[in-house]
Amino acid sequence: MSFRRAVKLACGFAGGSAVVVACAYFTDKHREIVRLKPGLSGVLHAAQPSANNTNHWDYNWDKREPSSMSSSRRRGSVGEENGVEVENNKPTATRHIFLIRHSQYNLSGGSDSDRTLTPLGREQAELTGQRLASLGLKYHILVHSSMARATETAQIISTHLPGVEMVSCDLLREGAPIEPVPPVTHWKPEAVQYHEDGARIEAAFRRYIHRADPKQKEDSYEIVVCHANVIRYFVCRALQFPPEGWLRLGLNNGSITWLTVRPSGRVALRALGDSGFMPPDKVTRT
Ligand SMILES: *[C@@H]1O[C@H](CO)[C@@H](O)[C@H](O)[C@H]1NC(C)=O
Ligand SMILES: *[C@@H]1O[C@H](CO)[C@@H](O)[C@H](O)[C@H]1NC(C)=O
Repeated sequence: MSFRRAVKLACGFAGGSAVVVACAYFTDKHREIVRLKPGLSGVLHAAQPSANNTNHWDYNWDKREPSSMSSSRRRGSVGEENGVEVENNKPTATRHIFLIRHSQYNLSGGSDSDRTLTPLGREQAELTGQRLASLGLKYHILVHSSMARATETAQIISTHLPGVEMVSCDLLREGAPIEPVPPVTHWKPEAVQYHEDGARIEAAFRRYIHRADPKQKEDSYEIVVCHANVIRYFVCRALQFPPEGWLRLGLNNGSITWLTVRPSGRVALRALGDSGFMPPDKVTRT
């Protein structure tokens, strides 16, 4: 079968979105096929960077860009000295941040302290702890939300990572980060909740997700045990995606989301909600 015929077949008969993407890719490289299927022009357009491209990466997203930081201290210093100062203020280490969703808990609990992990939740936390330990990384710290289910998950994980300091943090508690787009009918917090939680969860983002300090000499591996909404918001913010999209992401209980923040301010998502290390019958989502 010729290449062109294969593409025509794929474009004509398959309905999946993955196939649509493949069509757009192939037709871009073989423009005569565009003429054969003019109905694809909308798809092709979507696959191209827009002409008035406003997309860009803001390197100073965490306000730690060395050049931006030294410019305020520049007054009074001259020429070369300033260049040296910028060099000395340059971060060199990479931060690896492991965001862990707490494991399954008792939803019938009336207050936070009653909402403790279920037996399955404790098993999930054991599996997550084993997984983190088996990666063989030199973890620097284990921060966790002060809510009962996150604290309990962190305590179990901690038994697999002897010597790693555990720190509790109120900023990481679960909440409503920002009104989701598109909206959902089953979950409708009051505006005041977004107003309060949104600022706090953004504060948590600013505290934990940023490039390394220039004084940090070695790459770091940090674990943050918290909640699905908080992690999804962090991921959107870190990747400079619209934060309103957070509810489009899903995370299993006990799953690992791995963000890497380079000294340049680049960010990569190495894993999103990985729970592939759990046997299928231990995986829960809702
Ligand atoms: C997973 O985590 C959240 C909190 O426990 C919860 O809403 C959900 O019910 C959990 N999954 C299951 C199956 O309990
Ligand atoms: C879950 O919480 C409810 C309410 O506190 C309690 O009655 C029940 O025994 C708990 N279930 C488990 C498995 O802990």
